[in-house]
Amino acid sequence: MAKPSKKPVGITGLGMYVPSRVLTNHDVERLVDTSDEWITSRTGIKRRRIVKPGTPASDLAVRAGRKALRAAGLRPEDVELIIVATITPDTPMPSTACFVQTKLGASRAICFDIGAACSGFLYGLVTAEQYIAGGIVRNALVIGAEVLSCVTDWTDRSTCPLFGDGAGAAVLQPVRSGGILASYLGADGSLSDKLCIPAGGSRQPASRETVDRRLHTLKMHGNEVFKHAVRIMAEAGRRAMHDAKLGCADIALVIPHQANLRIINAVRERMGLPTEKVFLNVAKYGNVSAASTAMGLCEAVQRKRVVKGDIVVLVAFGAGFTWGSVVIRL
Ligand SMILES: CC(C)(COP(=O)(O)OP(=O)(O)OC[C@H]1O[C@@H](n2cnc3c(N)ncnc32)[C@H](O)[C@@H]1OP(=O)(O)O)[C@@H](O)C(=O)NCCC(=O)NCCS
Repeated sequence: MAKPSKKPVGITGLGMYVPSRVLTNHDVERLVDTSDEWITSRTGIKRRRIVKPGTPASDLAVRAGRKALRAAGLRPEDVELIIVATITPDTPMPSTACFVQTKLGASRAICFDIGAACSGFLYGLVTAEQYIAGGIVRNALVIGAEVLSCVTDWTDRSTCPLFGDGAGAAVLQPVRSGGILASYLGADGSLSDKLCIPAGGSRQPASRETVDRRLHTLKMHGNEVFKHAVRIMAEAGRRAMHDAKLGCADIALVIPHQANLRIINAVRERMGLPTEKVFLNVAKYGNVSAASTAMGLCEAVQRKRVVKGDIVVLVAFGAGFTWGSVVIRL
């Protein structure tokens, strides 16, 4: 599915939030049989942020969302749509977006969550764009928020160094020109077992056995995820750029999902991009799933890696498998 947007819809405000507690690779060394050297060389991750136990994803989402609203000059009571992309919702029901609505005081907003794992923020952007372009709402707050520390198996060295907590948010509104130029989303559910949380849903409801077997935590076939992620992210990035009729020279910055430095480097090579055109913050935050590209875009703007008028490409891949890319003129 790929189509250029009609009425221009753009990002008018960004915000992010990460908890203050830092978990370094040396801290992870104390939990499992690993080393800073192994984690750094295989993933590029040096540290990640972790919430205080009991902190729900909506707390992170609200902090990021408030900043994005402030940047856009929009009052909470004027927000018409809230989409939260997350694999770590506060509760299975109601949606985290509803908790965010109440905490923000955005009582007019339509609220729902999107479950597309690490691609969730991009699925959210494209969904909100359609709501605005279709005239259903005049603005939207799209938030990627994750507390992955609560679904991480801290006894499994093959997954626990990879993930962190955080949130990123964007306000979308109609713009005169620019905005979202093209997008491309996709999924392949036949590979769902490669990266999943097996229990806690209707297929395997929570039981003493599922808890004992740690089936409420992330399970991953690392090598297979790696291979698919590289191929599909490069393809997704190229597809959206092609649809926007843009080449690498037109792009100021590509902001890939920050899962792993080796994946990002391989995607960069396949897309034929120079290193300076690819944004990185994986060393500081690890993989923050749905929050990742949102935080990346926010940091890239904060650090002035991109300025108004620049074209950025967001590209992500995640459990499902799902993937997506969005080309935006800021
Ligand atoms: C997880 C990942 C870093 C593992 O790297 P890898 O090079 O594939 O490593 P392997 O899984 O082949 O394991 C190699 C060895 O390292 C060991 N190992 C795994 N985790 C380790 C750790 N944290 N510390 C030390 N050794 C570790 C394995 O046990 C294995 O040992 P063995 O050869 O004695 O069996 C890599 O597969 C990856 O990045 N996958 C994608 C993950 C991801 O980003 N997922 C989210 C996408 S949205």
